[in-house]
Amino acid sequence: MALGVTVHDKTVGLHNVRPISINDEVFHMTEKVFFLKNEAEQLQLAASIAATTQPGSVIFLEGDLGTGKTTLVRGFLQSLGFSGNVKSPTYTLIEPYLIDNQQIYHFDLYRLGTPDELEYAGGRDYFEQDAICLIEWPEKAKGYLPVADLLCKLSYKNQAGAQGRCCVLSANTDKGQTILQNIFN
Ligand SMILES: Nc1ncnc2c1ncn2[C@@H]1O[C@H](COP(=O)(O)OP(=O)(O)O)[C@@H](O)[C@H]1O
Ligand SMILES: [Mg+2]
Repeated sequence: MALGVTVHDKTVGLHNVRPISINDEVFHMTEKVFFLKNEAEQLQLAASIAATTQPGSVIFLEGDLGTGKTTLVRGFLQSLGFSGNVKSPTYTLIEPYLIDNQQIYHFDLYRLGTPDELEYAGGRDYFEQDAICLIEWPEKAKGYLPVADLLCKLSYKNQAGAQGRCCVLSANTDKGQTILQNIFN
């Protein structure tokens, strides 16, 4: 296994990139770590992700309550031109948006009792077209979701006196990699 780590030093920006090769097969899986010192920076990151997210992409948003998952969704939608209110579909599970003919579904699976409840809610139908799916609490529907193109792992972090958030982005597919490569470019 070959592992390379490049470390950059920016307050908001690239901290490390890890090309990984396992059993001679090269996985161009990359990871970028960001520190977002306030909500505004969280929204900027979301806009940057949205700028290169292709139709049909699935993005998982993981992290404890309050770590900024819905904020990322709001920044994503607003950067594409949506000007309405964005609130988590905690009880309805899925909120649809149509922006410039692009269908986007926001999932909040926090209240999902068991993964198969997603099936009853018709949740799987949303993955079949060119829709972009932004999914909070994907771990609640294990086995019922497609592979994520991009995974965003959020956590609380203090840095240089700021109560901010850490966001680890990792790509599982070419679509996800395109996002990572172009972020903040
Ligand atoms: N990078 C950040 N730094 C500080 N506060 C943030 C950041 N991102 C989001 N917040 C704030 O955290 C709170 C919870 O955000 P929210 O997106 O609702 O979290 P979640 O959906 O993960 O529960 C909001 O008040 C939001 O403004
Ligand atoms: Mg939320």
